[in-house]
Amino acid sequence: MTDYYQEALKLFAYSQSIRRDLHIHPELGFQEVRTSGIIAAELREIGLEVTTGIAKTGVIAMIDGDKPGPIIMLRFDIDALPIAEQTGTEYASQNPGLMHACGHDGHVAIGLTVARLLNDHRDEINGTVKLIFQPAEEIANGAERMIEEGALEQPSPANCLGLHIWNLKPIGWLGIADGPVMASAAQFAIKLTGKGGHGAIPHLAIDPVVAAAQIISAAQTIASRNSDPQETCVVSFCSLRAGDAFNVIPQIVEMKGTIRTYNPEVGQMVYKRLTEIVHGVGKAMGCEVELIIDNITPAVINDPKITQIVKRAAKKVLPDHDLDEKGYVTMGAEDFGFYQKKIPGTFFFIGSSNSENGLTYGHHHPKFDFDEGALPRGAALMAAAAVEYLKT
Ligand code: NI
Repeated sequence: MTDYYQEALKLFAYSQSIRRDLHIHPELGFQEVRTSGIIAAELREIGLEVTTGIAKTGVIAMIDGDKPGPIIMLRFDIDALPIAEQTGTEYASQNPGLMHACGHDGHVAIGLTVARLLNDHRDEINGTVKLIFQPAEEIANGAERMIEEGALEQPSPANCLGLHIWNLKPIGWLGIADGPVMASAAQFAIKLTGKGGHGAIPHLAIDPVVAAAQIISAAQTIASRNSDPQETCVVSFCSLRAGDAFNVIPQIVEMKGTIRTYNPEVGQMVYKRLTEIVHGVGKAMGCEVELIIDNITPAVINDPKITQIVKRAAKKVLPDHDLDEKGYVTMGAEDFGFYQKKIPGTFFFIGSSNSENGLTYGHHHPKFDFDEGALPRGAALMAAAAVEYLKT
């Protein structure tokens, strides 16, 4: 196999210039018009057949190998976040209030570099590589919409690969694990309607604040008492809105929160218990209760066979790296799970922090920045994994 890392290092200036340009011009989900235009132009520049406008700003390109074989899909997300950047770098965001604070600028640069690497080595491709540049990962809508608009058809890939540069681990670390690596996410919204009144005359009111407090406390038992201790489950209340005045019992309390699990059965248990607690406790406290639970993303669960292929590629192309076969398991969510529900695949992590350069802030932090050495590593591993897959 070609030494894709050496080749990716030769393309480093290209990867870096793409990444920095996108970093200066971040765009939110489904609004990545400039980003998507650059992606399409870069792919056309090297002669690829490109489809644009999938899920509004998504881009798809095909690389046919010299020999026939299966189709593998490689997915890169492209959107930024509503965060005001505080890095002070020369390539800091020039779009006020918007920032590539998750590293998706790096993912686009990796994807375009992979396109060049594979396009230069069609002789090593037995089959077809389908490159997917996906909008709106941060709002967890992009993958679903890409699928609805036919991203997994004509032609249909058999398997999929995705990656994330990962600032919680140092440059040189590679996380490639099978099984669950990122959690499913759901959001819930609760509205408790009581009877407002004077804070000094509580017996004539129905206090939804006290009901909310009881519900929040009781819901802590879902993870601690209802969930099997061997299973993983998080229930967090993150927003609580009640009255404004110090002496007025409000009429309404609204709460929002999130549920994270790996196992769908645990997810169903959490939904059932949360529903019972919210309705049971809320009614017992005299309130009218509304509860909405929305699934946002399924868990990212890696296929053992495909994961083996990625590990094999990593050992070939990045042999002196710290390959962590347990990977990094996080309760964070990723809409890559939508593709994996349709076609088995693997999502892996490329370490990208560097404490010597102060590049240690986590994803979604206003000072987030990563070691750009992750770009050639990510591109080399993704390209090598695709070639390794198509060989088998
Ligand atoms: Ni991300």
